[in-house]
Amino acid sequence: GKYAMVDKDTCIACGACADTAPDIFEYDDEGLSQVLLDDNQGIAEISDDLEDDLLDAEEGCPTESIKVSDQPFKTAVETY
Ligand code: F3S
Repeated sequence: GKYAMVDKDTCIACGACADTAPDIFEYDDEGLSQVLLDDNQGIAEISDDLEDDLLDAEEGCPTESIKVSDQPFKTAVETY
């Protein structure tokens, strides 16, 4: 499984990703994309049957705002 998040600093709300992968991406109030599975935290493992859609969306984003990793983008809450 992969993990994904959208860099909202570079997303230009082009709309391609949720067209390509509507089960993964949605738009916020400003039309910027986010991963709907985990509020764009990058911590929800994306199921294998969505992986092709995810990689297509990653490739299709004109600003390379879709980040994909084999690891969660955040680890569990750190305690001090
Ligand atoms: Fe934004 Fe790229 Fe999607 S610009 S709306 S993350 S295709």
